[in-house]
Amino acid sequence: MIKSLYVHIPFCIKKCLYCDFNSYVRLNEQDAYINALLTEIRKIKQNKFDTIFVGGGTPTILSISNLKKLLEQLKFFEPLEFTFETNPGTVDIEKVKLLKMFGVNRISIGLQAWQDTLLQKLGRIHKLDDFLRTYDILIKSGFENINIDLMFGIPDQSMEDWIETIENVLKLNPKHISCYSLIVEEGTPFFEMYNKGKLILPDDDIEREMYYYAVKRLSAHGIQRYEISNFSKKGYECRHNITYWMDEEYIGIGAGAHSYIKNVRFSNYRDIQKYIEGINLGNAIMESETIDYNDEMAEFMFMGLRMASGIKKERFKKRFNKDINDVYKIEINNLIRQGLLIDVGDSIRLTDRGIDFSNKVFINFLK
Ligand SMILES: C[S@@+](CC[C@H](N)C(=O)[O-])C[C@H]1O[C@@H](n2cnc3c(N)ncnc32)[C@H](O)[C@@H]1O
Ligand code: SF4
Repeated sequence: MIKSLYVHIPFCIKKCLYCDFNSYVRLNEQDAYINALLTEIRKIKQNKFDTIFVGGGTPTILSISNLKKLLEQLKFFEPLEFTFETNPGTVDIEKVKLLKMFGVNRISIGLQAWQDTLLQKLGRIHKLDDFLRTYDILIKSGFENINIDLMFGIPDQSMEDWIETIENVLKLNPKHISCYSLIVEEGTPFFEMYNKGKLILPDDDIEREMYYYAVKRLSAHGIQRYEISNFSKKGYECRHNITYWMDEEYIGIGAGAHSYIKNVRFSNYRDIQKYIEGINLGNAIMESETIDYNDEMAEFMFMGLRMASGIKKERFKKRFNKDINDVYKIEINNLIRQGLLIDVGDSIRLTDRGIDFSNKVFINFLK
């Protein structure tokens, strides 16, 4: 059985200036989109998932009636972990009650920064007050497993801003926090601004200082890093994302969603209308790629190394019937010598330095 299902909702009220996720300000297409999505869901050949993650975009900007249609269909899979992403100001009590009623038990909310000035510079639709109101509604409606997304290394952000963000978020006592270092993605307004020298980013030393401040302070509050960018209280790790990091199979539905089944990775059309047309014609797959044996091993390595627990040698052996130290002997030894990896007997992990240069580490496993 495939454990995890991802459902993509490609709508946002406005595009944030840094975001290259597959989302559009085309909310008037939601009725046709949801119908196509329901058609795709009905074609799924299994009736149970351990985890469902409804992401975006901003899933909670769907109308009540579309949300209801989607939830009615998804509840049949009886997920143990059922996550919805949301953006501050896009849910009210009615929507939150609906989510709860249909078994959603995990909410991921994007705050990004505590300061309204920074939120505005990111092009966010909300202010801090909107976040606090939404958070309050979620808590009062009985949601206890909540993740808060934060970003650091963002334009004009000072160390003091980041400290203020972390300390105030900790006061809310969430179960899970994601801290993402800003990536200036090609094709976004930030990319243009960066190339014109109009984006003032904190320098690399400050950016790393921000990261380690978060690691230290969150850990002091029992919110431990379990993946490079993800921190949680014990037992609240995101099981859905762990499927990806363990390099296990998953199904993705909706525009641009990826699936990984029997060593084939395939993705749907990214454009909403192309996706709907595809579904109506019986196939919305835009491209597919068979992952060969060497690439599968490499992906297993760089996804697994993202986790704080690293890669258990036994797990590699079970999957590939080979010893990790035989397959990657030279690479692992080199990386250990450079202080980027550590061998702790039954597993290998990134060191702190390895986390700082994780992309450099991951390249080593591509043959
Ligand atoms: C789909 S969004 C989360 C839900 C909702 N759309 C929102 O923004 O509040 C996923 C998260 O990815 C992070 N993110 C998006 N673009 C990023 C970028 N270019 N660099 C770093 N983090 C990014 C943000 O923290 C964002 O909350
Ligand atoms: S960060 Fe979230 S709200 Fe902003 S454009 Fe991307 S998906 Fe939409």
